[in-house]
Amino acid sequence: MQPYSGTSANLATYAALLTPGDTVLAMSLPHGGHLTHGSRVNFSGRWFTVVSYGVRRDTERIDYDEVHDLAVRHRPKMIVCGSTAYPRLIDFAAFREAADAVGAWLVVDAAHFIGLVAGGAVPSPVPYADVVTFTTHKVLRGPRGGMILCTEELAGRIDKAVFPFTQGGPLMHVVAAKAVALGECLRPEYGSYARRVVANAQALAEALAHAGIRPVSGGTDVHLALADVRGLGVTGAEVEERCDAAGIALNRNAIPYDPQPPTVTSGIRVGYPRGDHAGDDRGGHEGDRRPGGEGRPGPPRVGRRGGPRGGRRAGKPFSRLSRLPSNVGPR
Ligand SMILES: Cc1ncc(COP(=O)(O)O)c(C=O)c1O
Repeated sequence: MQPYSGTSANLATYAALLTPGDTVLAMSLPHGGHLTHGSRVNFSGRWFTVVSYGVRRDTERIDYDEVHDLAVRHRPKMIVCGSTAYPRLIDFAAFREAADAVGAWLVVDAAHFIGLVAGGAVPSPVPYADVVTFTTHKVLRGPRGGMILCTEELAGRIDKAVFPFTQGGPLMHVVAAKAVALGECLRPEYGSYARRVVANAQALAEALAHAGIRPVSGGTDVHLALADVRGLGVTGAEVEERCDAAGIALNRNAIPYDPQPPTVTSGIRVGYPRGDHAGDDRGGHEGDRRPGGEGRPGPPRVGRRGGPRGGRRAGKPFSRLSRLPSNVGPR
């Protein structure tokens, strides 16, 4: 309960299971992995030897053969799955198999989808993983913070890695808020909320596809969609800028095998994690996001002529969208 954030939870997990220099197999950042899974600008990439797997070019889904082959070739001490921008279910059994083949720990960073697990909308990693880390502020609807679940065997090591190794005293007000959020997960209506989050994200992906914005991997199984905006002749950065002008915060996001640099990108990440699932809390329904849905905006119209460079910054194409709060957007 005590990790201050998802990053702190991952730092403590690395500290509990590894020593500096050990090898970790994790998803590559451009394919959806998180900074804490092996980026050079983060402790994970600085202190550990990171080998990366990605998604297949044809299906844009995790290449489980590659995961297995890399595990056998590099014999990592720890394998990490879970991501920031992967819209599909993860085959935890395949990761477990790869980990067992080389005696590695399996860590699932469930930050993005743990709320869906809690609501029974997607399968749980718990039966497969040695450690599950997550944030409490996305679909789970709790306070900003992190948590770690682990096997009994690892409990002592994880506890010591949180305190005193990587943290000081607990933030008891945050721990209390986490308890409230977890209490809400036990209510029967939480399950229907979680299923609605997925249905809404799927409807949004479908609506984007109708607008010429290709959902990566063809759609989504979870709360977010990654969309390739090249069909509109714009970059992810341009969409981000134009949506921002319309009061919609969304991330530019690299798509797999992106020809653009990370500062520009060919994609955006949209969906219903904490913040922009507010529509679901207020009773939003997937029909609202389908093309022609009443009462809610459709996908952003960001063709060449509609944005700042076309001289109509936040003009007509965005007039309905600008009623949305400005703090929406996946994190
Ligand atoms: C998969 C994943 N892990 C870890 C984190 C880090 O969480 P925090 O911002 O609480 O440090 C994030 C952040 O969004 C994430 O998406």
